[in-house]
Amino acid sequence: MVLLEKLVEPDRVHKSVYTDQAIFDGEMANIWEKTWVYCGHESQLPKTGDYATVQIGRQPMIMVRGAHARIRVLYNRCPHRGVQLCGNTKGNTGSTFVCSYHAWTFHLDGRVKGIPLSHGYAGTRMTPDNPDCSMKAAARVDSYRGFVFASLSATGPSLLEFLGGARIAFDDMCDRSPEGEVEIVPVCHRVVQHSNWKFFMENQLDALHPSVTHQSTGIAAGRVERKLQEQGEKPPLYYHYLSTFASSFDQWDSVQTVNFPRGHGILKGYMGLRPDDPDTREYVAAMYRAYGEKKAEEHLGRSIHHVLIYPYLSVQSPLQQLRVLRPVAPNRTLSEIWHFRLKGVPPAIYRRALWYFNLVNSPATMINADDLENWTKGQWGLESDGGEWVSFHRNYGGDTVENGTTYSNNGTSEAVMRSQFAAWRQYMSGTNP
Ligand code: FES
Ligand SMILES: [Fe+2]
Repeated sequence: MVLLEKLVEPDRVHKSVYTDQAIFDGEMANIWEKTWVYCGHESQLPKTGDYATVQIGRQPMIMVRGAHARIRVLYNRCPHRGVQLCGNTKGNTGSTFVCSYHAWTFHLDGRVKGIPLSHGYAGTRMTPDNPDCSMKAAARVDSYRGFVFASLSATGPSLLEFLGGARIAFDDMCDRSPEGEVEIVPVCHRVVQHSNWKFFMENQLDALHPSVTHQSTGIAAGRVERKLQEQGEKPPLYYHYLSTFASSFDQWDSVQTVNFPRGHGILKGYMGLRPDDPDTREYVAAMYRAYGEKKAEEHLGRSIHHVLIYPYLSVQSPLQQLRVLRPVAPNRTLSEIWHFRLKGVPPAIYRRALWYFNLVNSPATMINADDLENWTKGQWGLESDGGEWVSFHRNYGGDTVENGTTYSNNGTSEAVMRSQFAAWRQYMSGTNP
């Protein structure tokens, strides 16, 4: 076993944690296959028999809606000879799963339903009353405000304990709907990043990079925004989405990160999503009717830019965006990019989420493409012999710690990465924090 304390120090980490296959395998076993992993949203499975396949660490799983509307998460594996039962990423399986090899069938809760020529098993240990004949289920499944998680470990914290303060990601998203709920837009972008999963997680709360990496896009959008203003026109909100990336170092440094236990965190910052136009006024009025003015203002005015649920989830709740990582190899990471629709809001408010999805988070945008390039180049650098260590020294020793939560005094502090690696060490030493 690699000596983790030699690889991960409080202010720097060894490059091999981004490149080494054995360490990657250890991450899958000690982190992904133990902790709570996001599977999807209840609204992805509106009808009985609806399913979506999902990868938890190295395990292929199926999230399925069964009897009494209950959602279960099962291993995508036939107990006969191991063939995967669902070959598609989503669909409706009817009232049973049917194996494509020898037609064993299973109820939606995974219990075996039928075995062709079952008399052939008489007298063996593989009779239908043996649980080995049924599909294996994830040890635990739970949901929070419609977001479904599974844990492959029977022990460890509850979902709410695991989420801790980062549950604000889902509260903030749902509270922006007058009905208190969101529904998933059932298409996502899937992107394979040619870099270790940690690059993505570190980047999401890295407030120093936007004005460098996204400078060209931010400046160009800001130019158009100003020109429209000079002409007396109101620039559409999506220019603001992009021009913000070119904010000054000082502006980014003035925001704060909140770094919870277990590596979760928040990048604060009010996103200014309330232009004075009829659509916004109609939306705010609906919020006032639903919650009263005081509560509605609280929901609409939260200082949140981004919430991270370590080690795989990035949520931009004010714009209903969610990105989830499914690591494939030390240098390959699949990301799923989703967005949600606030229930009970005018179509124009939904379009703002769609703009952000397409303009910032889609792989076709200048923003996401710039990040992807950085991470690939980062991976290449760490695979080289040009150095051994990755530095997380920025503002080291300068953060404020209260009750296990680290508050950065500067938005650009690398407290985020230090906090993530503190959690990483806990997981990799065999605990399920
Ligand atoms: S492998 Fe599934 S029925 Fe044989
Ligand atoms: Fe970025």
